[in-house]
Amino acid sequence: MKRSSFIGVICLFLVLMVVLSCNQKPKEQPKTSIDNAQWWKEAIVYQIYPRSFKDSDGDGVGDLKGIVEKLDYIKSLGVTAVWLNPIYTSPNADNGYDVSDYRDIMEEFGSMADFDSLLAGMHQRDIKLVMDIVVNHSSDQHEWFKQSRSSRDNPYRDYYHWWPAEKGKPPYRYSLFDAKGDAWQYDSLTNAYYLHYFAKQQPDLNWSNPKVRQEVYDIMKFWADKGVDGFRLDAFQFAAKDTTYPKFPDGFEKDFIQYYAMQDGLHDYLKEMNEEVFSKYDVMSVAEGAGRNFEDAHKLVDQDRNELNLAYAFEGVDIPKYEGYDLATMKEVFTKWDQEFAEDGWLSIFLANHDQARMVSRWGNDSEAFRSASTKLLNTFILSMRGTPYCYYGDELGMTNIDFDSISQYQDIAAINGYQKALSEGEDMDLFMEKLNFGSRDNGRTPMQWDGSTNAGFTSGTPWLPVNPNFAEINVQVEDSDSNSVLNHFRAMTQLRKQNPILVYGDYKLIMPEHPTVYAYTRTMDDKKLLVLLNFSKESSTVSLDKNWAASPILINNYNDLDIIDNSLKLKPFQAVILNIN
Ligand code: GLC
Repeated sequence: MKRSSFIGVICLFLVLMVVLSCNQKPKEQPKTSIDNAQWWKEAIVYQIYPRSFKDSDGDGVGDLKGIVEKLDYIKSLGVTAVWLNPIYTSPNADNGYDVSDYRDIMEEFGSMADFDSLLAGMHQRDIKLVMDIVVNHSSDQHEWFKQSRSSRDNPYRDYYHWWPAEKGKPPYRYSLFDAKGDAWQYDSLTNAYYLHYFAKQQPDLNWSNPKVRQEVYDIMKFWADKGVDGFRLDAFQFAAKDTTYPKFPDGFEKDFIQYYAMQDGLHDYLKEMNEEVFSKYDVMSVAEGAGRNFEDAHKLVDQDRNELNLAYAFEGVDIPKYEGYDLATMKEVFTKWDQEFAEDGWLSIFLANHDQARMVSRWGNDSEAFRSASTKLLNTFILSMRGTPYCYYGDELGMTNIDFDSISQYQDIAAINGYQKALSEGEDMDLFMEKLNFGSRDNGRTPMQWDGSTNAGFTSGTPWLPVNPNFAEINVQVEDSDSNSVLNHFRAMTQLRKQNPILVYGDYKLIMPEHPTVYAYTRTMDDKKLLVLLNFSKESSTVSLDKNWAASPILINNYNDLDIIDNSLKLKPFQAVILNIN
C-alpha cells in the first residue's frame, strides 16, 4: 500500500471512531462502594441449637430430621445461612461441646444419612450450612484422651496437656466450668494432672503438637468435602498455651481473657489452618471471641492476614447485666467496633446466642406490653448494622427467659457447677439464684415454640428442658398468621436487608450520640442514605431532625404510624423505623 493511501485509511478510521463515539451515550461509570463483596458479608445467619429446635422421634431431644421438617420455615425467614451448634457424637457433659467422635453424628440427633439430607435440603433452598468445630478441647471420652491418659508413654500422651504430679501441684489455672474453679484435674492412673479450661470432661487439646493440628485439619476437610459452607471455631482464642505454665498473678482469673486468649502460636495455627483448609474451599470462617483488643481482632480477620473471615467479639453481647445496662454504653461499644472495622476486616453482629439468656429479656422489655415492640426493635438493630447479622432461634418470635426458681430445674453444666462453687465459697445464694434466673444459658435453650399444642409442638415426649409457659401466645403458628407479629417483622427486615446492599456495606454513622433514649444512625452508600431510629424506652421519645428528614419515606416501622410534628418525630415506646433520607 502506498504511503498516501495508508494515511487515508487511518484518517477514515479515526473519523469513523469519532462519529461512533459521538453517537454513544457517555458511559456511566458503575457507581458502587461495594469493595470486595463476599457471600458471607451478605449472609443472614440463623443459629440453631439442635437439641431444642424440633424433635422428630419423641425422645424429648431435638434432632436433624426435626430440622429437615422445618427447612421451609427456615427459608421463609429470609435467612441465608444456618450455624448449627455441635451435632457430633458426645456424652453431652456440655450439650455437644464435648466431642467424642468428630466424624459421626450424636445418636440422639440421628445419623450421617440424616445429616446428608439436611445439607442437601438446605442447599436446594440456597441456604448455607456453618458447622461448629470444637477443638480447643475434646471430650474425655474421645479415643485420643482414653489413649492419652492410659500411660505416660502412649503415642497420644502429647495430644493433651499433662503435668506430672511428682513436680508438685501445677501453677493455678482457672476453669470456667469447674465446680472448684480449678483447671487442673488430677488423674491417679498416671499420677498426673491434665488441663481443662472448661469442665473436667473437656480436656484441652495440645495445639503445639503438629499431629493434633493435622488431625483437626483432616476433620475439617472431611466436613468441607461433604459440602458444608463454613466453620465456627469454638473457644479457639484459647487454643495456644504457654506449656511452661508460668505462674500468673494472684486474682488473674478476674481478667482471665488477658492470660488465656491469643497466646503465642495462635496466629500461626490459624494461618496453617487457612492454608490447609479454608483456602481450598469456598467456606466462611469465624472464631468465637476476637481476642483482648482491637489489634488482636484485626490480626484475626484482616484480609492480608489469611486467617479468618469474620470477627465475633463479645464486648457488645456482654453489655446487659443483671443490674441493667446503659444505652450510652451500647452506642459507644457498637460504634467503636464499627469504626475500627470500617476499612479492613468484617464483624459479626449479634445480641444473643446459646451462651446467653434470651435477647428480649436482656436487651429489651419482655413484659406483655412491650415484648413485641422491643423484640422488633432489637431485630431492626441487628439487621440494619454493618457486619454479618446472626439471629438466634426463637428470637425471630420474641421468645423470653423462663422463670426457674430451683437449681434442680437447670441442666447447664455451667449453672450446676457454678452453683456448687458459689455454695462452697459462701456466696449469697438468694442473689446467686436471682442472677442465674436472669442470665443462665438455659434461658436461651428452652424448646422452640412452634404452636399452641402440648409442648409447643416441639416434641410428643418429655422435653429435655421445660417449654416456656408463654408458648400459647408466642409461637410460630400464631405469629405466622398475624401480619403485625414479631415474626413477620423479622421477615420484612431480612427482605429489606437483601434488597438494600446499603444495609450490608454502607457506611455507619452514629448521630445524636447524646440522646438518652434513642439510638440513631445513618447508613450511607454512594448517593443513598438511610436513617435508623430506635427508641430504647418504654416511654415515647422525641427526636428533632435536621433538614426535611422527618417527612422522608418510611422503609420499615414496627408500629402502623409515625408521629411527625414539624421537623420532629415522636417515637412510641420501643418504636423502630428506617427512613430513606436521600
Ligand atoms: C464455647 C461455647 C459454649 C461451650 C464452651 C465450651 O464458649 O459457645 O457453649 O460451653 O465453648 O466448649
